[in-house]
Amino acid sequence: MKIRALLVTLSLALAAGTAARADETPLGERMEKMGGAFRALRRQITDASKNADSLAKVATIRKNAEESLKFDPALAKDQPADKQKKFIADYQAEMKKFIELCGKLEAALKANNNAEAEKLCAAMGDAQKAGHKQYKKDDKKKK
Ligand code: HEM
Repeated sequence: MKIRALLVTLSLALAAGTAARADETPLGERMEKMGGAFRALRRQITDASKNADSLAKVATIRKNAEESLKFDPALAKDQPADKQKKFIADYQAEMKKFIELCGKLEAALKANNNAEAEKLCAAMGDAQKAGHKQYKKDDKKKK
């Protein structure tokens, strides 16, 4: 009986986990993919022997950033109705700038200019911070 109770608890916990993941926004999903690639990229950006793999990581980041343009940040709905359009347009402009950084980083890596690549990678980290500050819901503060 004890084992049965344990199994029931376990399957309920699993179901809850799946539901929580399905709740994620389409934009959040793209961001998660960018996050994985960016973490790995940062670790190896100065290592020229890894430039081919770094280019693959940037391609993943760029692809997901481009797809991110199609989705509105969840925070847009919290803006006053007359400000939402501008909020979304500003978000898209920031994302386009971020995509331009991806292009510059690709050029630096192709030229084996890792010093420049390192700077661009830092600039992408700054863009991430700024983008999140302005357009991402802060779950901890909201609750
Ligand atoms: C290296 C660059 C970036 C990385 C690695 C990154 C990573 C992430 C991660 C891991 C999340 C959490 C996803 C989740 O909640 O499931 C997130 C959310 C978010 N990010 Fe980024 N991000 C980057 C750049 C940006 C930029 C440039 C912007 C805006 C121009 C942006 C806007 C957002 C927004 C709005 C969310 C919340 C998702 C939503 O509203 O649905 N991010 N990001």
